[in-house]
Amino acid sequence: MTKDNSKGTAIITGASSGIGLAYAAKLAQRGYDLILVARRKDRLDIEAKRLSDTHNRQVTTISADLTKPADLRQIEELLSTRGDVSLLVNNAGVGAIGSLLDVSVDAMDDLIKINVVALTRLSHAAVTAFSHQKRGTIINIGSIIAFKPANTAAAYAGSKSYVLSFSRSLQSQLKDSGITVQVVLPGPVRTEFFTASGVSPSIFPDAHFATAEEIVEAALLGLDRNEQICIPSLSDVGDWDAYDAAQRRLAEVISDGHPSGRYGTS
Ligand SMILES: NC(=O)c1ccc[n+]([C@@H]2O[C@H](COP(=O)([O-])OP(=O)(O)OC[C@H]3O[C@@H](n4cnc5c(N)ncnc54)[C@H](OP(=O)(O)O)[C@@H]3O)[C@@H](O)[C@H]2O)c1
Repeated sequence: MTKDNSKGTAIITGASSGIGLAYAAKLAQRGYDLILVARRKDRLDIEAKRLSDTHNRQVTTISADLTKPADLRQIEELLSTRGDVSLLVNNAGVGAIGSLLDVSVDAMDDLIKINVVALTRLSHAAVTAFSHQKRGTIINIGSIIAFKPANTAAAYAGSKSYVLSFSRSLQSQLKDSGITVQVVLPGPVRTEFFTASGVSPSIFPDAHFATAEEIVEAALLGLDRNEQICIPSLSDVGDWDAYDAAQRRLAEVISDGHPSGRYGTS
């Protein structure tokens, strides 16, 4: 049940720390009721009480491990059955950082379940629900690592390339639907992300780290401006336009599937 001045309910995955928790605070401030999802229920409950006391919003918590199909299904069902959900933040993510043979294959498997499978299934459930209302917003958290090969984060970089590509395709499909899909690509952010992956955050210079609050503030401002691909650290939007134009040109020149003359095939 939402209060009269509510903007509806936002579901935020990975809301027990870092960027997800910063979204929870900013969205409560903006008038959303919240459903906070993560594994650490104790942390979620402490933050839920703090946020509902501060912002006078309804905040509920769900302990779910997004690598587990039954837990994931529970969040999907919530999206299909609760008519008040107007925003989904697909934020939960892990890094499995290290060179390929130093990272356990099970850790990479879990990474794909959280960063790719959960994000896809929850986006599907949200689009299904939002389509009936002809409105709703999905925010998918990517990373600037989507743009380059990463020696010590192959599965992570691949997963974030997926998030960017998947979100862009949804933006294209849904452009006249009333549903907004924003993909946010942060650079280094000072959170528990690196320690959760068992590595030191000192792989980046100290001065390069943003705070989670700065990133979320910029991304929500971007959302207000209908910036569907939001790279908070990008100064000159022309750099994105040049990248996008080069990608589109390449896609155009390779669109005929026959091997090119340079292979000498008939
Ligand atoms: N920090 C950075 O430099 C950076 C840069 C670019 C993008 N990002 C992206 O930002 C997002 C948030 O990361 P963060 O930096 O805020 O890191 P974080 O503080 O470690 O937060 C990760 C969140 O994901 C949740 N999570 C992890 N495994 C989960 C699972 N199996 N099931 C459910 N929830 C799970 C964690 O909660 P529990 O442990 O309680 O489950 C936590 O709330 C991620 O998608 C990350 O890839 C981070």
